Amino acid sequence: MSDPSPPKPAKRLFIKTYGCQMNVYDSERMADVLRPLGYGVTDAPEDADLVVLNTCHIREKAAEKVYSELGRIKEMRIARQEAGGGRMGVVVAGCVAQAEGEEIMRRAPVVDLVVGPQAYHKLPELIARTSRALGERLSADFAPEAKFDAMPERQADGVTAFLTVQEGCDKFCTFCVVPYTRGGEYSRPTEAIEAEARALAVQGVREVTLLGQNVNAYSGGPDGLAGLARRLAAIPGLDRIRYTTSHPRDMDDALIAAHGELAALMPYLHLPVQSGSDKILRAMNRDHTATAYLKLIERIRAARPDMALSSDFIVGFPGETEADFQASLDLIEEVKFASAFSFKYSRRPGTPASAMPGQVAEEIKEERLARLNALLLRQQKAFNDSQAGRTLDVLFERPGRHPGQILGRSRYLQAVHVDGPEHLIGQIAPVRVTQGNMNSLTGNLVFDSRSSRPQADSAMKESA
Ligand code: 5AD
Ligand code: SF4
Repeated sequence: MSDPSPPKPAKRLFIKTYGCQMNVYDSERMADVLRPLGYGVTDAPEDADLVVLNTCHIREKAAEKVYSELGRIKEMRIARQEAGGGRMGVVVAGCVAQAEGEEIMRRAPVVDLVVGPQAYHKLPELIARTSRALGERLSADFAPEAKFDAMPERQADGVTAFLTVQEGCDKFCTFCVVPYTRGGEYSRPTEAIEAEARALAVQGVREVTLLGQNVNAYSGGPDGLAGLARRLAAIPGLDRIRYTTSHPRDMDDALIAAHGELAALMPYLHLPVQSGSDKILRAMNRDHTATAYLKLIERIRAARPDMALSSDFIVGFPGETEADFQASLDLIEEVKFASAFSFKYSRRPGTPASAMPGQVAEEIKEERLARLNALLLRQQKAFNDSQAGRTLDVLFERPGRHPGQILGRSRYLQAVHVDGPEHLIGQIAPVRVTQGNMNSLTGNLVFDSRSSRPQADSAMKESA
């Protein structure tokens, strides 16, 4: 007898995610929390019974997008009502919700519920309350421990997964809203994370990316993030571990050593430096110099010589002169990044930098961003080019855009396209790289006579 087909979800849920990977994780968890209520995820907002915007507050533009999206949703809701459809519930979640809850309620009457990142486990109850009493609008905010404990079993969706291990930040960089929107540093206990990772591995996940605003400040178990990585590396089937985002100050000896010892810890590190000027680093309250950052990179590369590095840069921070900007370019020349993100400084209300003298003109920010990006893109292309001719282990994640093509990631997080069979999806297989492109690698599958699925511990030897 064939299995009965799963029941069709009674209600449709549309979630739009803005910003960082932690929001991607949170959106998945919100879907998990709402599934038992009969909500199934749709990618068509106009048909949704419930729309959730999971928002980002990090830069002004990101926050503004929410209000324009709410305008569109209002029209969809009206159109749906006029067509005789059911009522569309509208929830604003994430960091804008946390920071500007009151203002959202005032500016956007379409919103039923505003919910901060620490209250997602309460969504069923909160949504029930808003639909019972139409027009009663709520905002909620709780402590992080309660949230993680109350979440249902994690549902994997694919070969790779994000896993939040730490939230919040105590660093108070003077440009940043995170300490205000996500609160102080909180680390989940190692046991809870290990259980979540095991459940993911059983469902076929081969790679986890541990998430935290200050992930390398993780303190939920012995030996910090290095200890956690060791525990997770022992889980059968979990071949690859990544983590993001790290602060240079928290890159301790144990974690650096772990990169030399754990084959599962991938040789790609996102380590934001923000600026190469000591004067600007001081004004940003980063608590380290450019030289200290360069020395740290040296130590990391001594432990793991093939480490690929990534970073974040801000241009046009208050007081940044051409010489300060040049110092950022110099630092980039010295490190040689595999990829990096760069942003124009965005004045965020309530942060110390927004009140600093010497705010930089928009045209200067634009011009510096273009120069910085040009250099970073040259380095990214050079890094991808340098892989041509090498054989790299690739974890295949999904079919490619063209028929017969499959897409995976190298250890260095590069997208890799090859012609190959779909049954390799979910497996790690060696690929000989034929070409480096700006954003990806192209290559051919190498038939490995030892096994069709190379062991993860061959990765270190092959990387030299
Ligand atoms: N303006 C510009 N960029 C910012 N970032 C954080 N706050 C701001 C801001 N006010 C950048 C930093 C950080 C990344 C996530 O976003 O580079 O590392
Ligand atoms: Fe923001 Fe700095 Fe904390 Fe990163 S370390 S989240 S940039 S305050």
